[in-house]
Amino acid sequence: MTTYQIVDHAYDVVVVGAGGSGLRAALGCAQAGLKTACVTKVFPTRSHTVAAQGGIAASLGNMGEDDWRWHMFDTVKGSDWLGDQDAIEYMCREAPKAVYELEHWGVPFSRTEEGKIYQRAFGGMTKDFGKGGPVQRTCAAADRTGHAMLHTLYGQSVKHSTDFFIEYFALDLIMEGGACRGVTAWKLDDGTIHRFRAKLVILATGGYGRAYFSATSAHTCTGDGNAMVLRAGLALQDMEFVQFHPTGIYGVGTLITEGARGEGGYLTNSEGERFMERYAPSVKDLAPRDMVSRAMTVEIREGRGVGPNKDHIFLHLDHLDPKILHERLPGISESAKIFAGVDLTKAPIPVLPTVHYNMGGIPTNYHGEVLTRDGDNSSKVVPGLMAVGEAACVSVHGANRLGSNSLIDLVVFGRAAGLRAADVVERGAIPEVAPASTEGHLDRLDRLRHANGSTPTAELRLRMQKAMQKDAAVYRTGETLREGIQAVRAVRAASDDIKTTDRTMIWNTDLVETLEYMNLIDQALVTIEGAENRKESRGAHAREDFPDRDDKNWMKHTLAWCDDKGKVTLGERPVHDFTLTDAVEPFPPMARKY
Ligand code: FUM
Repeated sequence: MTTYQIVDHAYDVVVVGAGGSGLRAALGCAQAGLKTACVTKVFPTRSHTVAAQGGIAASLGNMGEDDWRWHMFDTVKGSDWLGDQDAIEYMCREAPKAVYELEHWGVPFSRTEEGKIYQRAFGGMTKDFGKGGPVQRTCAAADRTGHAMLHTLYGQSVKHSTDFFIEYFALDLIMEGGACRGVTAWKLDDGTIHRFRAKLVILATGGYGRAYFSATSAHTCTGDGNAMVLRAGLALQDMEFVQFHPTGIYGVGTLITEGARGEGGYLTNSEGERFMERYAPSVKDLAPRDMVSRAMTVEIREGRGVGPNKDHIFLHLDHLDPKILHERLPGISESAKIFAGVDLTKAPIPVLPTVHYNMGGIPTNYHGEVLTRDGDNSSKVVPGLMAVGEAACVSVHGANRLGSNSLIDLVVFGRAAGLRAADVVERGAIPEVAPASTEGHLDRLDRLRHANGSTPTAELRLRMQKAMQKDAAVYRTGETLREGIQAVRAVRAASDDIKTTDRTMIWNTDLVETLEYMNLIDQALVTIEGAENRKESRGAHAREDFPDRDDKNWMKHTLAWCDDKGKVTLGERPVHDFTLTDAVEPFPPMARKY
């Protein structure tokens, strides 16, 4: 057993993760006078929010009439009625306030001629409860909105005295009597172990896109907080709903923003046909992502893909004014050149649906408080634990997220968590934790550090990623999912034979990859087992053997637990079909046509 130097810390609040939601939550807690730490495995401005391109949804109405209730309707419909309507109401109502707050803090939004925040069209965002065609609701800083937000939020967090612990890998939650009392972390540059006692831990650790082979997500998107929650014996929710973004660059997966279609771009097949007109006659290329990804997959399957192998689709921007492209889409102009060798003012970009976002995650209420199931099957709050951002499942995105609703989710619920923390965190001494509460964390770290089997981490990771890519894809069937379950279970079992090659105390990148892989594999399991279990098609979960939505049997959230042997147990909880206030009535389920 390695002897670790252990360093103790005590905080009112520890936020894990420094992307948009983590920084917004940390900022709120610090503003409320709570002693706040932010623990992050990468430098804050390298968090994956930096890669968000097209914008942040809010019904400002700068480009024509808009209403937060229209935004709410679109989000409920986009979620295929799996989203919780109380949380969706909260997000859409609070969205304009959250965007103006960002503006005042210094986010350099693009501007209209009159100097207002520029807004562009995005998929599934419509006027007049879906009756009025596309609306321009997505507030943009060119095509680098996440980058602009992240830098601004980091500056504000520093100004408000958040203590940052940068390049610390969070290991596990300190749980005592069903409550969270802190978190342990491994400091990457000197190998020391840090024990953070806290009255509240807020997980803002992002998604787990890297469970798949091709994803727009950064390599750091390994869902570390989700996995810590599973190891704490708590459930994740709706993990079977994985979003494929229609326009990842073919072969590399780099994101080409939906804002490209919002600015007038369109997709074509090998016959030069703008095929989205057939699939979504009213909104066409601005249909929600699940629909566009399915339409592209059908075109390719039916032999109308482009390229020598007819295995991708073209995205055209070459008809647009180069000046507009330069002004509004400079980032993707660069990406198309670097990653596809294409000058988008002259030629189409080769694209393919690529894993982009996890609708599922840690179940929370709209304050960000983590929920667990009580003995009588009702939900109860886990004391001392919150989750925000992509790690959380509030659930505002339900079965399918609308583009640009992610950035607004980050700041609205990051802010909500800060407000709740100000109310619920008691002032005064920070409780001690028993040494026994963290021993398991160090034992596990040590076991993985010295793992000397015969299968390198990279080999196991690749097997998992290939199985997920093949068997939990845009379209699924019982057969592919059962095959996938066998494959992922086999990889999980083979992990007992893992080999962590570099076992030095510090700069042990191989151990980081082992910890990340071990986090990913359990999330892969609950994803694919949840997908096999859900016998219907809803949003991003498209079962060819159950092609219809089945509200009678399946309008419910999936809960999934995973024990330390990789055994998955599934449960459920009801969807919230009620609103928070009487400013809006709940939207009853209807057919989802565009
Ligand atoms: O297409 C995009 O710019 C991505 C935005 C989002 O996922 O919200």
